Amino acid sequence: MYYIGVDLGTSAVKLLLMEGSGRIANVVSREYPLYFPHPGWSEQNPGDWYEQTIAGIRELLTGFDGTQVAGISFGGQMHGLVILDSQDQVIRPAILWNDGRTAEENDYLNNVIGKEKLSAYTANISFTGFTASKLLWVKNHEPENFSRIEKIMLPKDYLAYKLTGVHCTDVSDASGMLLFDVKNRCWSEEMCRICSVKKEQLARIYESYEAVGTVLPELARKLGLSDHVKVAAGAGDNAAAAVGTGTVGEGMCNISLGTSGTIFISSEKFGVDKNNALHAFAHADGHYHLMGCMLSAASCNKWWMDDIVGTKDYGKEQADIAKLGENHVYFLPYLMGERSPHNDPDARGTFIGMTMDTTRADMTQAVLEGVAFALRDSFEVAKSLGIHIERTKICGGGAKSPLWKKIIANVMNIKVDVIESEEGPGLGGAMLAAVACGEYASVEEAAQKLVKVVDTVEPDAELAAKYEARYQQFQRIYPTVKSLFPQIK
Ligand code: XUL
Repeated sequence: MYYIGVDLGTSAVKLLLMEGSGRIANVVSREYPLYFPHPGWSEQNPGDWYEQTIAGIRELLTGFDGTQVAGISFGGQMHGLVILDSQDQVIRPAILWNDGRTAEENDYLNNVIGKEKLSAYTANISFTGFTASKLLWVKNHEPENFSRIEKIMLPKDYLAYKLTGVHCTDVSDASGMLLFDVKNRCWSEEMCRICSVKKEQLARIYESYEAVGTVLPELARKLGLSDHVKVAAGAGDNAAAAVGTGTVGEGMCNISLGTSGTIFISSEKFGVDKNNALHAFAHADGHYHLMGCMLSAASCNKWWMDDIVGTKDYGKEQADIAKLGENHVYFLPYLMGERSPHNDPDARGTFIGMTMDTTRADMTQAVLEGVAFALRDSFEVAKSLGIHIERTKICGGGAKSPLWKKIIANVMNIKVDVIESEEGPGLGGAMLAAVACGEYASVEEAAQKLVKVVDTVEPDAELAAKYEARYQQFQRIYPTVKSLFPQIK
């Protein structure tokens, strides 16, 4: 049998066809536009996600027998607000995870309601990208739209709804709404009251590996599928990526270098970072995780390469980088503000330290290093909680670069395990579908049987020491320039 994993990303939807044995039979990708209607805002049309997903499924199955597909599931960009009216029409474009418009609502939640209460109710505090502050923003700025809300959903849940007619979500993605009691895996009454949300507007909650329904008969016919294809709830893209890299159970780590950059630590027990700099979320394996999320990771390199340097040949640009650990140029990767650990929507991208002999390669190197240093900021928070990490998996578009993996291994001073497929969320989605269909007894079993480490990038003691010194410098830049950012908007 086949399982389809849908990775609903920010730049594209990536679909993956997996055989029950774990062999990847096909992968396709389809892009859609991303809108920045104001600086710091970020929106997409849910209709584009659906159209491209359907077209993608057709393309994915070309040359394959669609009747052999047993299940479909998702890894979806998290936190996005999708609102539907009583006719099931999308009320306004989705407000995405990297949108920073809700600074006021975020302040209200963190400082008027108070971080202590938020953390007690949900295990987290508010960040501008989280869904609760977006609901308050719609209430304050678009009251007419707010009054029409019948259903509130997350991006991948919109796809599940269109495929099955079931208004559902899963525990990992729900965790990022700030409406969810993560410890007890249920909606928080208090948060619903604070955000003027009625329970009926929210989706039914499932574990990520549970089936929510089957593909609607007419759609199944159109796609050449059988009439009993199960749709599993799926997970937020980071939890799905963790499944796809085998980051399940106790104390495993995954780094994702996608549009966002995340460091994800799985845990069998519920636990909260006392300062809430790391998110405490439910995991797709039935347990929990801690996560630091930077808003711009591989997207910094893409911006630097595509828009500024003007090339698509990233490998060629990186080939000119020779002196690791000796760069005098630093880059703060805050092109969309920053989430973890600074929680600062006003932060901006910054180059510092150039001289007349600075080269284009130095600047490219600074971008790659800046992302690695910023990930280390979250890693340091994890260390301060007594979490000991010796090795990590890695996935996402940025993980294709051998140089970037080497920089990460040495900046963090940990081993980086490279797995057979860097298609984290898509593979994780297909694995969750396989568990929902009974092909594997649990997410852990699927991970054990399907995920293979093919290489390990080891840190080098001398280089790691050089990067340690560089990181100490990097750490001082943001606090020094922070107060300028609100003034240079
Ligand atoms: C996680 C987050 C991002 C998005 C990217 O909290 O906001 O990683 O899920 O798709």
